[in-house]
Amino acid sequence: MHSEHERMESKIDLVCGMHLKEFPHALTCAYKGKHYHFCGEGCFERFKKNPEKYLGVPFIHLEGVYKSFGHGASQTSILKGVDVHIWEGDFVSIIGPSGSGKSTLLNMMGLLDKPTKGKVLVRGKDASKLTDDAAAELRSTVFGFVFQQYNLIPWLNAYENATIPLVFSGHADDIARRKLLDKRFKEVGLGERMTHKPTELSGGEQQRVALLRALVNDPAILFGDEPTGNLDSKTGNMLLDSLIELNRTQGKTLVIVTHDKDIAERADEIITVRDGVLVPDHHVHKATYTE
Ligand SMILES: Nc1ncnc2c1ncn2[C@@H]1O[C@H](COP(=O)(O)OP(=O)(O)OP(=O)(O)O)[C@@H](O)[C@H]1O
Ligand SMILES: [Mg+2]
Repeated sequence: MHSEHERMESKIDLVCGMHLKEFPHALTCAYKGKHYHFCGEGCFERFKKNPEKYLGVPFIHLEGVYKSFGHGASQTSILKGVDVHIWEGDFVSIIGPSGSGKSTLLNMMGLLDKPTKGKVLVRGKDASKLTDDAAAELRSTVFGFVFQQYNLIPWLNAYENATIPLVFSGHADDIARRKLLDKRFKEVGLGERMTHKPTELSGGEQQRVALLRALVNDPAILFGDEPTGNLDSKTGNMLLDSLIELNRTQGKTLVIVTHDKDIAERADEIITVRDGVLVPDHHVHKATYTE
């Protein structure tokens, strides 16, 4: 974790976490007698709105993260030195061409995979120092995941599928959580579908079950890897609306990988991945990448 002094001296953008040495056109802002630097107007504006937040500790912090797959001559570098901050309560979208490393990046943030080099810090704690059990506990109680494939277990019904994280977190018999889940099924219009198996549900319904499953342990952050990728645009937008509502009303942090520019532009910050590195100056509400 960089101290505030280091972050100033080494010209790290406090908001997005990028190193700015390579960016001669970084913007500078004075706050309480100190100077801070930003990769572009998006981060600059966000800092000005809430400077104290960005002087604190990021929720998720990737520091010099590299990821390679394979060995020897067949080794390929996918992430090539990524520095990024994700702040509590923000909605961040990740965009970029197919194969650029978006899912790999999301997997690093969600501790689903480990970097080859570099650090992942969660609320300031180095994730590599967590035991496997502690990391699993974090994944099942603080993190929620929604993927493009709904990943529901075919032989369990919708309700049973949504309770799986309760089992992993040791709350399988928690009546209050089960009642809340019951209520949520009804709220999202699946009250009549709770005993249906995944094959008896539409894609949109399956994804709503997957979302209920992701939310059952009341996570602080939700990671979505193209969560609307298999849905038609109306169903996809409805799912996105419910994610955004969770962000706005319950302060849940959202990190969503998407190919959909309209979805990306609803975020507070757009992270663009290109060939394993992040592109600076991710303007708020302005995607710098088009398909
Ligand atoms: N476990 C793995 N082993 C080997 N190569 C991998 C592995 N996971 C990903 N890759 C490779 O890393 C590259 C980046 O993959 P990644 O899934 O992060 O891309 P992406 O940006 O999410 O693409 P898409 O938009 O198509 O989902 C791809 O070339 C992929 O083949
Ligand atoms: Mg992907």
